[in-house]
Amino acid sequence: MISLRAFTPIRLRRPVEAIALLPVPLLTQQSRPIHTTHAHLFQYTPPKRNKNKPTEKTNLTDKKPKEKTKPTPGGSYARTDDAIAVEYPESGDLPSSRLVSGTGRAGANVFPTLATFSLQGKVGVVTGGARGLGLVMGQGMVISGAELAIVDLNKEEAEKQAKLIVETFKREYPGAKKLPKVTAHYADVSDPESVDSCIAEIISAHGKIDNLVTSAGFTENFEAIKYPIDRMRKLWGVNVDGTYLFATAVARHLMDRGSKGSMVFIGSMSGSIVNVPQPQAPYNAAKAAVRHLAASLSVEWSKAGIRVNCISPGYMLTALTQKILDDNPELKKQWTSLIPQGHMGNPPDLMGPVVFLLSDASGYVTGADLRVDGGYTVT
Ligand SMILES: NC(=O)c1ccc[n+]([C@@H]2O[C@H](COP(=O)([O-])OP(=O)(O)OC[C@H]3O[C@@H](n4cnc5c(N)ncnc54)[C@H](O)[C@@H]3O)[C@@H](O)[C@H]2O)c1
Repeated sequence: MISLRAFTPIRLRRPVEAIALLPVPLLTQQSRPIHTTHAHLFQYTPPKRNKNKPTEKTNLTDKKPKEKTKPTPGGSYARTDDAIAVEYPESGDLPSSRLVSGTGRAGANVFPTLATFSLQGKVGVVTGGARGLGLVMGQGMVISGAELAIVDLNKEEAEKQAKLIVETFKREYPGAKKLPKVTAHYADVSDPESVDSCIAEIISAHGKIDNLVTSAGFTENFEAIKYPIDRMRKLWGVNVDGTYLFATAVARHLMDRGSKGSMVFIGSMSGSIVNVPQPQAPYNAAKAAVRHLAASLSVEWSKAGIRVNCISPGYMLTALTQKILDDNPELKKQWTSLIPQGHMGNPPDLMGPVVFLLSDASGYVTGADLRVDGGYTVT
């Protein structure tokens, strides 16, 4: 038997390749190697070695070299770059996000669809809903029949977008019998008192809450050894505490009412993989926490009829990512080269997944992580 530790010196992106690097006799000894029972089917061409330079050991019996190993020249597309540092701007410094036009035609029953996908009669809450992905997911919920409460640190922006969602709806469905109810509310999701008073305000405006989407969150890029601790705590406070606080407050309300409900936490593919080249260890760990929080709460609240799932988006083109990419065109090339579909996602790509997970169409789906990433995480 070989121990798992035998794999650690082989630094490769895919475990399959690590297995393929093992000497054949070791492979055949193992009845079930890690992650695949078919590793021997993969052909692996070992990289050509430069005799003058030390390379990684493939023979597990070799001793480690005594001198410190220098970074190897290979692997450049699989490493973080400490030179990349991006600080998340103040909310007021971000441009407004644009609503979507035209996607609602199917919702007007121009195209037939399953009735179970409808959110008719539901009240949905989206945190971080004034902008970016949250705004467009909220619009998708409204088009699917829900009332919507937009929650954001930036209440002014939330109010403006709430009005725009209703105006867009009116324009796209001139014959609609009823206009959707969309309200805007202030909360700092990382602050328990702010969350509780926001929930009370939403219930007094809409009478109840059925669905929750936690999209308030942000990312920043600093190499780990230089990450300012106050910024790291803020990042965790919004992404992790904020998700937890809103979810538990909505769950308490649903349990008090004895009602079923569905929640979607917005994680990220960064909760499952490590992005390159931008360094962002705390964000990645925070999104892994969000994903596992969804799984854990789904188990705890199944008996109350509350479903909890996670959506893990890949690289999505929002105002903020667009700005980062405008400043670093090389980064865009590198990101898209790693996406099997060959392009970044657009916010409307999340409309269908979120409506599905909130609606009865996904009644038997809970604790799942739905990756919406153009295939990034499967390579
Ligand atoms: N854009 C992407 O490529 C991408 C990819 C994967 C995951 N995500 C995740 O999706 C979510 C939304 O990202 P986005 O790109 O739409 O971001 P965004 O910056 O465009 O929007 C985030 C919104 O959250 C609000 N917000 C921030 N802190 C808050 C707080 N403490 N309380 C209440 N509201 C707060 C902001 O005011 C803003 O309106 C985040 O959780 C992000 O991590 C984004």
